[in-house]
Amino acid sequence: MNLPQFLAELESLSTEASASFGAAADAAALEAARIEFLGAANGRLKSTQKGLGAVAKEDKPAAGKRFNQVKSEIEAAFVAAQERLNSVGATKKEARQFDPTLPGDRLWLGRLHPITQTIEELKDIMARLGFSPADGPEIEDEYHNFEALNIPAEHPARDPLDNFYLSAAAKQEPGVGRQGSAGRPLLLRSQTSTVQIRVMEKTQPPVRIISLGRVYRPDAADATHYPMFHQMEGLLIDRQVTMADLKSVLRMFATSYLGEDVHVRFRPSFFPFTEPSVEADMHWHDRWIEFGGAGMVDPNVLRAVGYDPEVFSGFAFGLGIERLCMRRHGITDIREFYRNDVRFLSQF
Ligand code: PHE
Repeated sequence: MNLPQFLAELESLSTEASASFGAAADAAALEAARIEFLGAANGRLKSTQKGLGAVAKEDKPAAGKRFNQVKSEIEAAFVAAQERLNSVGATKKEARQFDPTLPGDRLWLGRLHPITQTIEELKDIMARLGFSPADGPEIEDEYHNFEALNIPAEHPARDPLDNFYLSAAAKQEPGVGRQGSAGRPLLLRSQTSTVQIRVMEKTQPPVRIISLGRVYRPDAADATHYPMFHQMEGLLIDRQVTMADLKSVLRMFATSYLGEDVHVRFRPSFFPFTEPSVEADMHWHDRWIEFGGAGMVDPNVLRAVGYDPEVFSGFAFGLGIERLCMRRHGITDIREFYRNDVRFLSQF
């Protein structure tokens, strides 16, 4: 036998052996293939090795080297096949161990943010009192955030330092900020009272709406302040609405939210868009808790939206949603709501 013949024999042996090992579907087939190729007595590798003796002396080193390589290739193919069959066996065993009577893996569900939960609950309560939800933009113009609410240009509430105008230029001089479509400066709304105007512009009385959403004020964050928070605005316009109606709506609202008979008290206050204006407090667990501003809608506001103040009157209120949620759950720091720490959030 010459060298080329010997090498050709090795090549086909290697190919055939890995094909058989690769095709073995179970342990018995693999063992049969092992005996055929690697068998110590009559294996084909063994008999090929015998041919080595017939190769010319000077070709022996090359022939022997290739023989050893092919031997390791075939052994490696056998080990790989063995591993493949073992892992299939393991999966089958696992499948057999599946116990359908065991309880399933627990699925961890996400949950709604406590403020979202509060908003949904407030909407439910107010729906029972006949108020439907309304919305307005968070980016507002000065007309809806101030002017129509009877807050004139020189009013301190319009100080650019107390509002988030949409450009730095506006901070020096109101009216020079980024321009809205109608050429007016824009700001992040500082109160949901803007929605009163937006709704009344589009509808005729009677009006009975609430609006829940984000408002923005450049306050430094501490336990009770955050530059963004949520308010619930309420507005009711009809004929012969009085402050007694305001007080009873707030009392029914507070009683529903806190689940006990709650007394409401009014303290005189001032808002440009209500006259008279009050701060409303509720009595709960032996304490008076401030829950927001309210009052009878100022005739100037009614006129701004084209309502006749001789015919229609109404009340409005604005409550801080974080504050309500904090009171009810005993949360002491408003910043907890916005840290996104699941240890806090998962408690609600
Ligand atoms: N908009 C007022 C505030 O943000 C609250 C308010 C709303 C007062 C409606 C009176 C009537 O403080």
